[in-house]
Amino acid sequence: METKLIKIESKKDFNKLTEAAEALADGALVAFPTETVYGLGANALNENAVSEIFKAKGRPSDNPLIVHIFDIGQVEMLAEEIKPCAKALMEKFWPGPLTVIVKRKECVPDCVTAGLDTVAIRMPSNEVAIKLLKLSGVPVAAPSANTSGKPSPTKASHVYSDLNGKIPYIIDGGASKVGLESTVIDTTEDEPKILRPGGITKKQIEEVIGSVLYDPALSDPSKTPKAPGMKYKHYAPKAELTVILGEKATEEAQKLCKVSMEENIKTGVICCENEEIFADFIIKCGNSAEKYAAGLFAALREMDDLGAERIYAVLPFDGDGIETAIRNRIFKAAAGRIVRC
Ligand code: TXA
Ligand code: MG
Repeated sequence: METKLIKIESKKDFNKLTEAAEALADGALVAFPTETVYGLGANALNENAVSEIFKAKGRPSDNPLIVHIFDIGQVEMLAEEIKPCAKALMEKFWPGPLTVIVKRKECVPDCVTAGLDTVAIRMPSNEVAIKLLKLSGVPVAAPSANTSGKPSPTKASHVYSDLNGKIPYIIDGGASKVGLESTVIDTTEDEPKILRPGGITKKQIEEVIGSVLYDPALSDPSKTPKAPGMKYKHYAPKAELTVILGEKATEEAQKLCKVSMEENIKTGVICCENEEIFADFIIKCGNSAEKYAAGLFAALREMDDLGAERIYAVLPFDGDGIETAIRNRIFKAAAGRIVRC
């Protein structure tokens, strides 16, 4: 199949979205930008279209999808029950990087929810995404637009390298601003619970609905995560990644890079703007946690493209805002290789 790339540089280009939006409503897959990561969309009410998503990504069928909407009124069509806390979160953080899980209505196909009696819903803030959703007129089921197991795509070129030839349309709307996937919050139990940390922090949520918990599985690997997708090894680059934390992280990274290069291993380092570490490849991700989050997945992919065999990522941020999401993703990618110093 030929993949059509549609570049949107400004609102003037929005008319270029019509063809893809109509195809999306009719059952075709369309990859599109959001403020978190690129999504791979299908008409959420069309079972055949949704099943194509799983094929294109190689995604396990027990992993449910997020339904993307452009108007808060669409929630009623999908949700059996909207608790006051869910409504408050939608009103405060939509459009934006928050996914809210609610009890689902019968009309939501089982392949979207992986047979669960709940559905995850999000209204993205990216203008291209909203325009595409509006033009299609349908709720759009969309996981991140990567091949399963790879880092989520934050640029159209990432989607292209994973899915070229497998899907008919990729919309290029530039780099994703947040760079990590949305926060997922479950509102269907007695107490709301964060199943995946992301762009909206626990503190921001608590300012609206009072205290919330993290899914205990986020910090205890022996527990089963409530979000099925959180149990998979994710976001992994081909190279062996080690995360280095703590006050002496830069010095330690320099030592480890030296040893690694002496062993003739192609070694890359991911760090902040103001650091100088000698390695075969160095990718700098800015000086704030927000910039680090925005650049992390692209950096992991770029290291693979450069041919790095080993990556050391210096992570100097230890806060509990977006840092929680950075740690969640990067620790998974490192599969336990974490050095604290
Ligand atoms: O930022 C994002 O959320 C991006 C953009 C494209 O919107 N999407 C995304 O989708 O990250 P995906 O499929 O890669 O991750 C969705 C996560 C998975 O961990 C999935 O298991 C969980 O949400 N999830 C979806 N529906 C659920 C449900 N009904 N109950 C529990 N977890 C659910
Ligand atoms: Mg994903």
